Amino acid sequence: MKDINIGSAISDLKKFGFLNIEPNPDLDLFSEIEKLKKEKNAVLLAHYYQEPDIQDVADYIGDSLGLAQEAEKTNAEIIVFAGVHFMAETAKILNPQKKVLLPDLNAGCSLADSAPADLFKKFKERYPDYLVISYINCSAEIKALSDIICTSSNAQKIIESLPAEQKIIFAPDKNLGAYLMKKTGRDMVLWNGACMVHEIFSQEKIAKLKVRHPNAKLIAHPECEEHILRMAEYIGSTTGLLKYTETDSSKEYIVATETGILHQMQISSPEKTFIPAPPDNNCACNDCPHMKLNTLEKLYLCMKYEMPEITMDAEILKAAKKPIERMLSISKQYGL
Ligand code: 13P
Ligand code: SF4
Repeated sequence: MKDINIGSAISDLKKFGFLNIEPNPDLDLFSEIEKLKKEKNAVLLAHYYQEPDIQDVADYIGDSLGLAQEAEKTNAEIIVFAGVHFMAETAKILNPQKKVLLPDLNAGCSLADSAPADLFKKFKERYPDYLVISYINCSAEIKALSDIICTSSNAQKIIESLPAEQKIIFAPDKNLGAYLMKKTGRDMVLWNGACMVHEIFSQEKIAKLKVRHPNAKLIAHPECEEHILRMAEYIGSTTGLLKYTETDSSKEYIVATETGILHQMQISSPEKTFIPAPPDNNCACNDCPHMKLNTLEKLYLCMKYEMPEITMDAEILKAAKKPIERMLSISKQYGL
């Protein structure tokens, strides 16, 4: 069977984005993607929450910090970002001259959406002598209004690197912010945002699961709510959680974060059992609907036609770059 007709595909792309084209079902998308990477000098960066097929074909799989660091140092001409919009946007901010592609432009983030820039600007005006630390899960406009960006891997160190008397606004994740206040003993002003995936876990169902699996350890991402974090035996970023399961002696884990990370946990420790922490209802699950908008098919089409591409306002890009660079430099200082 022939591959799709390029002329009609391009006109379809113009009219509808990728909505109504499918790659030829006979294509081996894994080898086609490998070919496209070489032909176009493209690097494929994927977050741990991507579907397993995408993780398997990626050049680098990581958490938000690792991905930003890879984006900063890549020599590739094209960065293909298998993640969500704010991550691809961060790669673009660090590489304004390069083409940055995202397989589905609608791959957003409920946490980033919880902080609209106009409201945040007004909020910030109420605290004139405060320094703004924003979690990387926010829009470029919020980054442009921030002093330092952080991720779940480096937030504690970044806060601790500041003088004790420095007043801080932390945005947009209130759960991560509350966790950091506890860890650092700093009193921060928190923006009231949260991630829809990490707020879905059921304390009661986890407790029941622990009765059935008495040796299973609960491990959790710090975006989870306080009552879940209180039950956890280890709390960390996706990379932190993965490393913990690689070095810890337990054989069974209940994992309170997005399910995509289980793929790498299972690859690293095939002899261990990983159970996704149960959600508090019967229909919504702990798969991020934004992350899971990317598919292998969309990834192939995006690399083949070099769209959708991330484009940005030059002024916002410039202003958003400073706090990201500050984060990367503090992280380097601490060997993160
Ligand atoms: P990390 O990649 O920092 O672990 O954050 C998880 C997340 O929610 C990304 O959207
Ligand atoms: Fe955003 Fe949560 Fe999805 Fe991460 S898991 S992209 S924070 S909605």
